[in-house]
Amino acid sequence: MAQTKRIGILTAGGDSPGLNAAIRGVGKTALSFYNMEIVGFRDGFRGIVEDRRLKLDKSTLAGILTVGGTILGTSRDKPQRMMIDGRIHDMTSVIVKNYGRYGLDALVCLGGGGTQKSALRLKESGINVVTLPKTIDNDVALTDSTIGFATALDIATETIDRLHSTAHSHHRIIVTEVMGHRAGWLALGAGIAGGADVILIPEIPYDIHKIADAIRRRSRAGTNFSIVAVAEGAMAKEDARAFQMAEARKERARNQREKHEAKLELAALEARHTGNTLRVAKQLEELTHLESRVTILGYVQRGGIPSPADRLLATRLGSACGDLIHDNVFGMMVASRGDRTEPVPLEKVAGKRKIVPPDHPWVEAARRVGTCLGD
Ligand code: F6P
Repeated sequence: MAQTKRIGILTAGGDSPGLNAAIRGVGKTALSFYNMEIVGFRDGFRGIVEDRRLKLDKSTLAGILTVGGTILGTSRDKPQRMMIDGRIHDMTSVIVKNYGRYGLDALVCLGGGGTQKSALRLKESGINVVTLPKTIDNDVALTDSTIGFATALDIATETIDRLHSTAHSHHRIIVTEVMGHRAGWLALGAGIAGGADVILIPEIPYDIHKIADAIRRRSRAGTNFSIVAVAEGAMAKEDARAFQMAEARKERARNQREKHEAKLELAALEARHTGNTLRVAKQLEELTHLESRVTILGYVQRGGIPSPADRLLATRLGSACGDLIHDNVFGMMVASRGDRTEPVPLEKVAGKRKIVPPDHPWVEAARRVGTCLGD
């Protein structure tokens, strides 16, 4: 059979379990099913700029289904803002030029929200892009789930399970920080699955006194330990208000100076937010007189073997991506919808974030079983 197309593939943004399964899904479909050629670019968009190519063949794709991380490497570099020789440059035109020079017919970008935006920019510059949604945060719009979320959920849940016995033995509050950026999917999911007594997410700003009341109620009922799952983006009501006001000021800015000032304010608020989980633990100790400890899960949530659910999702999305390229359908993100996949125009995804709606069934279920959400 004559070779049909030559495609490029890269992984961008933070890594997540299942990326290799997705590379394999795209690669095997392209190579074996459609007889295309596939070339990987190392370290995200920088790989196209700096010609970091890696030819993907059957042997490179073999044995990677279960491997964590990404065989291609990744970076948070954006086409329009790339540090080259110590200065920020817009490298979009270089990417377009190299895409032509390497004889590519399509470019597959695996990434989260930021990557969807970058991919749209490349589409608008004339590149045939197709994207796959991946991030442990599960916050990409218009897809049921993202590659990596299921594994991270397993890891975070297992950790909460383990914290129970030590919290119980020492009669302590254990405050555990879960990743998720500005979305609460991971903390909420792991908190519910792990039976956390309090779950704090960015979408529901909290009142520390309400949390202390809930913990004291547990103590009065004879249970003097508590597990508090805190999303890294969770905020006290007053902090959330300050953020909202600074964001609004940035939106309303009439000139560069006003915009710059609003950005500085946001950066200061963000800097203050670092360490919020420690603050929550300290405040709860003071208010309840129960000893408290902190466990920050961090990057362990992104590492290691992808779960079966992620391998399955990645393989489904990867093979559907091969189909789209074969059918010349470009400028799309391959979304997961129930058992099916669906191409969604990048214009509809870029710049949007899927956050937890306050009336989401997970939220309702958590409330029904008596979990305190801090409000
Ligand atoms: O987007 C995935 C994620 O792990 C977030 O949950 C977290 O806020 C962020 O990446 C951490 O980014 P970095 O890897 O750049 O430290």
